[in-house]
Amino acid sequence: MARRELVALLFLIHAVALATANKFTVGDAHGWNPNVNYTIWEEKHRPFYVGDWIVFYYQSGQADVVQVDEIGYNKCDASNAISNYSKGRSYAFQLNQTKQYYFICSYGYCYGGMKLAIKAQALPPPSPPPKANKSDAFSVVGSRLVGSIAGFFGLVIFFWLF
Ligand SMILES: *[C@@H]1O[C@H](CO)[C@@H](O)[C@H](O)[C@H]1NC(C)=O
Ligand SMILES: *[C@@H]1O[C@H](CO)[C@@H](O)[C@H](O)[C@H]1NC(C)=O
Ligand SMILES: *[C@@H]1O[C@H](CO)[C@@H](O)[C@H](O)[C@H]1NC(C)=O
Repeated sequence: MARRELVALLFLIHAVALATANKFTVGDAHGWNPNVNYTIWEEKHRPFYVGDWIVFYYQSGQADVVQVDEIGYNKCDASNAISNYSKGRSYAFQLNQTKQYYFICSYGYCYGGMKLAIKAQALPPPSPPPKANKSDAFSVVGSRLVGSIAGFFGLVIFFWLF
């Protein structure tokens, strides 16, 4: 496959993924660092759904992301880790099951609150189509049409440029 086709394909896949899953930066601008209350962060951004991604950004070599169970979370104990990650400066994790996930930093900062409990809920069923009158229906179709036309020309311009 030509490089530009591959790029366009990735672009499309990305657009589709964006429509179905959200990506959250753990701690927002604070990232994954000591002295941030991740309970408050979680409460602010919930609900989280299966398929969503959470991304931990940390100082290289200063933190790890260890997935533990509830006991490990409560005790800041990484000895029964489910997974652990510490490479580079970030770690993206997909919440791909309906359950409560627990993450801690095993470098000692967990006791100060560097730990995250986060619940992934089942995706809500698609909301029933609103009882739209004709003009609403038209505006929905119309905006989709405008969206796809814009997308089409975006791709054309993209190919033209490369
Ligand atoms: C993380 O995984 C590595 C390799 O499996 C292991 O050596 C290390 O002890 C683990 N660290 C924690 C905190 O679980
Ligand atoms: C679920 O997410 C984890 C962590 O991102 C990944 O390692 C695993 O392969 C995923 N499982 C499935 C079934 O997608
Ligand atoms: C984080 O905030 C929650 C909710 O306000 C509070 O219950 C908890 O004690 C705080 N954790 C830390 C480590 O300060």
